[in-house]
Amino acid sequence: MHTFDLTSKIAVITGGGSGIGKSICEVFARQGASVYILELNEQTGLETKKAIEESGGHASIMACDVSNQSQVASVIQAIHQDTGRIDILINNAGVAHIGTVETTTEEDLDRIYRINIKGVYNCLHAVVPLMKQQGGGAIVNMASVAAMVGIADRFAYSMSKGAVLTMTLSVAKDYLQHNIRCNCISPGRVHTPFVDGFLKKNYPGKEQEMFEKLSKTQPIGRMGNPEEIALLALYLCSDAAGFITGTNYPIDGGFVTLNS
Ligand SMILES: NC(=O)c1ccc[n+]([C@@H]2O[C@H](COP(=O)([O-])OP(=O)(O)OC[C@H]3O[C@@H](n4cnc5c(N)ncnc54)[C@H](O)[C@@H]3O)[C@@H](O)[C@H]2O)c1
Repeated sequence: MHTFDLTSKIAVITGGGSGIGKSICEVFARQGASVYILELNEQTGLETKKAIEESGGHASIMACDVSNQSQVASVIQAIHQDTGRIDILINNAGVAHIGTVETTTEEDLDRIYRINIKGVYNCLHAVVPLMKQQGGGAIVNMASVAAMVGIADRFAYSMSKGAVLTMTLSVAKDYLQHNIRCNCISPGRVHTPFVDGFLKKNYPGKEQEMFEKLSKTQPIGRMGNPEEIALLALYLCSDAAGFITGTNYPIDGGFVTLNS
């Protein structure tokens, strides 16, 4: 067996229709995993599935809103009935929000809570008992550098990613004896449709200028690319990372430690 091999592993990946989640689906399938994509946008999820199948991999798409507990429960149950196990869970689905405490409305806060926090809880709540029953598993949650340092104008988003970090620690601690490893990744800015959408909405006509400005906020001088994040997720879910649990991994071109 070669290092980072995921042959015969069942991987559930949320938000796999775009950006980082899409890249994780593709990388995991390339390494032999059977990938189950939980996506709100069925169309983009289907495109990921198609790309994986065209490269000879295995993927299924399950239309699912991670913020809806009963939907998550029935989708996870259907996957488990099909496969008999879930080896890997990647809680990647998430949405952005711009605003300070003054400009964040109650509706904004509730929405970010429902998707970025409760969505992660819903998937953990459904999958952890199955991992426990089968004797182990690996979980990676997508946090952000916003969980670690103050980022301007990101009140609700930072709140949500702080919760992702602490949910990670809590699950890692509670399921040590059950051989469930739980870690999170904190990306700096990664070039995905998430970033393009932000620029289009907030800086119409100035997208290129702002793209360059945002690239320079990483000390390394550029944004990350989705596959760089996917490869870290692969390492953390592989047997090579068997000694790692309860850890947060910044992957940010030096953003957290080298910006002065
Ligand atoms: N791109 C960045 O710079 C960056 C940096 C740090 C952290 N992150 C985090 O990484 C994750 C992925 O970001 P991305 O840039 O790839 O985003 P993206 O917008 O490109 O993709 C997110 C995917 O999640 C799906 N999704 C959204 N709400 C959902 C829901 N309720 N149920 C199911 N699926 C849902 C979307 O349809 C989309 O396909 C997010 O959690 C984000 O907060 C991104």
